[in-house]
Amino acid sequence: MANKLWEKNFVVNREIERFTVGRDREMDLYLAKYDVLGSMAHITMLESIGLLKCDELPPLLAELKRIYAIAERGEFCIEDGVEDVHSQVELMLTRRLGDMGKKIHSGRSRNDQVLVDLKLFTRHELKEIADAVKLLFDELIRKSDHYKNTLMPGYTHLQIAMPSSFGLWFGAYAESLADDMLFLQAAYRMTNRNPLGSAAGYGSSFPLNRELTTRLLGFDSMDYNVVYAQMGRGKMERNVAFALASVAGTLAKLAFDACLFNSQNFSFVKLPKECTTGSSIMPHKKNPDVFELIRAKSNKIQSLPQQVMLIMNNLPCGYFRDLQIIKEVFLPAFGELKDCLQMTAYIINKMEVNEHILDNEMYDPIFSVEEVNRLAADGMPFRDAYKQVGLEIEAGTFHADKHIRHTHEGSIGNLCNDRIQALMEQTLAGFHFERVEQAESKLLKD
Ligand code: ARG
Repeated sequence: MANKLWEKNFVVNREIERFTVGRDREMDLYLAKYDVLGSMAHITMLESIGLLKCDELPPLLAELKRIYAIAERGEFCIEDGVEDVHSQVELMLTRRLGDMGKKIHSGRSRNDQVLVDLKLFTRHELKEIADAVKLLFDELIRKSDHYKNTLMPGYTHLQIAMPSSFGLWFGAYAESLADDMLFLQAAYRMTNRNPLGSAAGYGSSFPLNRELTTRLLGFDSMDYNVVYAQMGRGKMERNVAFALASVAGTLAKLAFDACLFNSQNFSFVKLPKECTTGSSIMPHKKNPDVFELIRAKSNKIQSLPQQVMLIMNNLPCGYFRDLQIIKEVFLPAFGELKDCLQMTAYIINKMEVNEHILDNEMYDPIFSVEEVNRLAADGMPFRDAYKQVGLEIEAGTFHADKHIRHTHEGSIGNLCNDRIQALMEQTLAGFHFERVEQAESKLLKD
């Protein structure tokens, strides 16, 4: 079957074809909608510079919209014998519109086509990740506010150290996400640039109007230098992977804390039984598998930058087929991270907190610093106060005064959650997702 865009006068060896196509028929499904959007912008531009006749544009656009709807319904598939999404879309066009369909490839290459597909897909997914991060952030802030007066022990070296609170614990992870959001935004801004027009990586002798496709697709600007645009393949994925890894790092740490605190030896938090899993042999078990899976999946996502780098790091500039393999690790990562974010928000919402942890006198020593500070504030030199309290603890005569007063910013008594929320809002306002939404719906409507 001559379904290859590049097939001329010989037939490709079947084994070679199987190997080179690899998992593209599956991976490119992630890109189908975006491939269509890219083509809509490209042909609108081709018509504007006279490479398509004005009566050819409307039927081509209508057909592309139809394909977009198929992809949106999840019904787009890449047929056997068709190499990739780019070939499939072109095949669908030519089946319906004949030779007109073949004209859409003027002034581009699959190299910039896959680049633009990846950019459009990634910016869409980054928005979804940012939304999911924000939902988890809100849940953590709610819990932090709710439990701002509920004390728990703080640890260093996993040894009881100082009083902490659930207000601090939940709020810490919220603030961590506010920082992760900055990474996501940097990744988003680098992603939201138009590579279309770089063609095979060296531009085209057609007078392409790259400003027009940039505007139509709602990109902030373009990757100007055509060689750089092609060099961005792999670099964009790596940078985005770092942002995803940053979020995943927050989730993995939170998940480990939760597993630890949920253990009977801690009993700081509890999951309602319908959110736990049982054992096939031990009838009493209520395991926190949810957090364990969040931890493992998040750790896997933290390996994504390394995986991307190992695939592409030692390539010189210009396109190579190696880049195709990045799709296999990169494209599924968004769904996995989104799932972890949503599940974390869900389970944090359900989490019950032990409000009486510090009633147990084994935790009394964590108030030692409070006592030292009290004596020091009353005029005793800090070293002498430290020694006196230390000796009392040794002698078993230390009396813990559990009434604590922490007032500085970010401490138990002054969480500054409103300021953390302001930081998050400030970052979110810098994405300008609405510009992209407007451009994409205009392209699909016009
Ligand atoms: N499947 C290819 C990829 O993901 C599409 C580009 C093919 N380009 C080429 N020169 N063989 O990279």
